[in-house]
Parts: sequence; structure tokens; C-alpha cells
Amino acid sequence: MKANPIILGIESSCDDTAAAIIQNYTVLSNVIANQKVHQSYGGVVPELASRAHQQNIVPVVEEAIKKAGIDKNQICAVAYTRGPGLMGSLLVGSSFSKSFSQALGIPLIEVNHMQGHILAHFINDANDSAPEFPFLCLTVSGGHTQIVKVSDYFTFDILGETIDDAAGEAFDKAGKILGLDYPAGPIIDKLAKEGNPDQFKFTKPKVEELNYSFSGFKTAILYFIQKEVRKNPDFIQENLADLCASIQKTIVDILMDKLILAVEQSGIQRVAIAGGVSANSEIRSRLKQLEVEKDWKVFIPKFEYTTDNAAMIAMVGQLKFEHNHFSGLEARSVAKYKI
Ligand code: KG4
Ligand code: ZN
Repeated sequence: MKANPIILGIESSCDDTAAAIIQNYTVLSNVIANQKVHQSYGGVVPELASRAHQQNIVPVVEEAIKKAGIDKNQICAVAYTRGPGLMGSLLVGSSFSKSFSQALGIPLIEVNHMQGHILAHFINDANDSAPEFPFLCLTVSGGHTQIVKVSDYFTFDILGETIDDAAGEAFDKAGKILGLDYPAGPIIDKLAKEGNPDQFKFTKPKVEELNYSFSGFKTAILYFIQKEVRKNPDFIQENLADLCASIQKTIVDILMDKLILAVEQSGIQRVAIAGGVSANSEIRSRLKQLEVEKDWKVFIPKFEYTTDNAAMIAMVGQLKFEHNHFSGLEARSVAKYKI
């Protein structure tokens, strides 16, 4: 096997078209084209997403190769997101990757997007040190909310997960009720910094074991806002920062309660976070607090490896390459793909 193989990663599961080059656990380039087209719709429109991927994929890959300072003939394998995600979006990345691997005569590696989020921790500059196995990972994105026990690079056990909406959806749907653009998570995070998190109280759901639920929370916000706006039409504008801070606090409380329970039950004190919502500043500071209070070892990835990116896909590609986990042209894209 070639020493220090160069891997191209392709990510197109939702609304970001991304390509990255990795070598020896080091990211040589990490290019992302965000799709602005969805902002005014309050969520991702699948048909528009796949069309934008078609437009973006070639220039994004070309830029990733150029920024890495390599020639495309130096690439040893192409890793791509097979699922989970939007079918029309996944198909663009998988078709491109299959053609690319055929044209260059290099192996193809299929990657589970959620494994990508978790294994992003093994990128050289993702954090101060990579987590030792076993560790727990709270994966929080627009489509997933799970507590995963990671025993090695390829062994994942879901200890708990959402029974309805994901944490990212809770942020985005609450934001939509407040009239914020999509995705609302980062906007709420920013506005919350100026607000009082204890100004408004929202009840937390009661869910069995290590599972989560966010759909009741969203409905509670909707009814509360409707009631207040009937009394004062300017209620949202006058209380926006406090609303954002209170909503964010409730979501983070819900996430942390079960994470603490998972650590107690498993006895595993190494805790990582992954996925788009792990960019949230309140989650990050709460985890750092827990690290001190409860003597955990916490792993918080660099901001650029939290939201969707292709460096994480290339990272899994490198690990699978080292373990000879290759895939064939027959691998079909899958909208649902268990971690
Ligand atoms: O992992 P990701 O980029 O895409 C999916 O695989 O879903 O996650 C996107 C989600 C969106 O719901 C977005 O609102 C949320 O991550 N998000 C945040 C923040 N940055 C992104 N939520 C809260 N605070 C943030 N700073
Ligand atoms: Zn994601």
C-alpha cells in the first residue's frame, strides 16, 4: 500500500457541496459551497438542493485540488457520503465520485455521514488531542440527535436518540416561529449572547432512558408566542434576545441532562460532541464546565469541522483506506443509514 495516501472527500448529503483533500490525518484543503437559495424558504428544498449540487460539484472539487497544491493524479482514493441525507443530493456526490474513481482508476470508499461527524475528531488539528477509545459522542445536527458509544473507528453503539425532531430542527423551527432566516441555529446563538436565559421558562419533555424529544418543545414555543403576540404585536421584536437565550438554554439543558445520565450509566468519562449544533457556544461552554465539575475529559472539535464539511468524509476515507474497507460501484445511496 502507498505510504501517506492522498484522499479526496466529497460531501453532498444536504445543502452544502463540499470537497476536501487529506493526507496523513492532515487537511490540505477543505472547500464548501453553501446554498443560499434555501434561506427564504425556512428550510432546505430538496429539488433546489440537488440542482445546486450539480452546479457546484465540479468547481468545488477543482478548487479543493488546487488549494491542496496537488495534481489530481496524486489522489489515491475518493471517499463520498453514501447516506444518510436527501436522496437527490446524495446522488450528485455519489455519481461524481464513482465517475472520478473510474476515470482515474482509483478505489472508491463509501462513508456514513454521521460517522464522518464523529471521526472528524481524528483530524490532526481538530482539537488538542484525539479522544481515546471508548468515548461517548453527542452527535447533534439538523437531522440527528444521538448519544453514541464509540469503541473503535468502526464500532458505534447508539445509547439514546431522538424519538422525533433533532436538536438542530428544534433551533431552526423555533427560529422560524420568531421570523428568523434558515438555518436559525447560528442566529439564535448570536442573539442569545445579549439575552437573559432565565427570562422565559419552557418545560422540558419527559422521555424514557437516554432518548430525546423536541417536537413538544417546538409546539410549546409556538403556542406561547401566539398568546403573547395577541396581547402585544411587538412582543417578538421587544424580547428577541431574551427569547433566543431562553430557547437555547432549554435545548442545551435537555441535551446535557441525558448526556450526564449516559456518562453515569456507562462509566465512560471521555465525552465528545459532533455535528452542526456542536458549533453552539452554550453547548461548548456547558461541556467545559462539566469537564471541571465532573472530572470528564471533553473533546470539542474546531468550528470548521462541526457543520457539514468534506474533511470529515476524507478523514473516514483515510481510516477505511488503511483498513482496506473499499466499496464498489454497486453501492446505492441511502436516505437512512444507521451509524
Ligand atoms: O451537521 P449539519 O451542518 O447538517 C446536518 O447534517 O444536518 O447541521 C446543521 C444544523 C442546523 O440545524 C443548524 O441550525 C445547526 O446545525 N447549527 C447550530 C449552530 N450552527 C449550526 N445550532 C445552534 N447553534 C449554532 N451555533
Ligand atoms: Zn451533518
